[in-house]
Amino acid sequence: MFIVIEGPDGSGKTTISKLLVERLNDIGIKARYTSEPTASHYGKRLREMLSDSSSTPKELYDLFVLDRIEHLKEISEWEKGGEVVISDRYKYSTYCYQVSHGLDPALTEDNNSLRTPDITFILTTDVDVLLSRIETRALSKEIYETRGFLEKITAMYERLPEIFGEEFSYIDVDDTIDNIVSKAFGIIKEKASI
Ligand code: TYD
Repeated sequence: MFIVIEGPDGSGKTTISKLLVERLNDIGIKARYTSEPTASHYGKRLREMLSDSSSTPKELYDLFVLDRIEHLKEISEWEKGGEVVISDRYKYSTYCYQVSHGLDPALTEDNNSLRTPDITFILTTDVDVLLSRIETRALSKEIYETRGFLEKITAMYERLPEIFGEEFSYIDVDDTIDNIVSKAFGIIKEKASI
């Protein structure tokens, strides 16, 4: 089973993803946390480019797709080994971020047609809440961590069902971590019949 956790910067994806892995492990299900950009050579290059304001959305797009294709091979292997895989970001990040950055949506087909996850959560809430979380943790901000950009991204995440024609589970993260994890875990149990 392949589960994706998406959402704007500051929405708590990493914390929630890791807690969901723990909850699954607690009930005897093997689960693994993974994330994009990955730690591969593409992912490392992406981290550098994300701190450089001269990076173009097309350059970023191409590298994110290459990174993701490699990642999908690993994900399939982990699933074959019996693990539930929880990925912190996936193809929806590329659509929302690189299109908001100016990339023509018509050029995103090779990304958008990649495998559809079994469950996709979108964690989101008011931009003010997101921004205050980013400001308390970030030492150096990446190019996408500004108010104007967060507003665009948040609006883009709302439009995903219409753009992708897929089902998404939206969770408002202006709540306690415990409540957020419990809601997401309930949805996983229901969909996976566990
Ligand atoms: P991430 O590691 O999730 O951010 P954080 O710093 O919150 O842990 O992602 C790093 C940045 O990369 C984030 O601003 C979103 C951006 N990104 C894209 O623009 N496109 C993509 O396809 C992905 C996976 C991430």
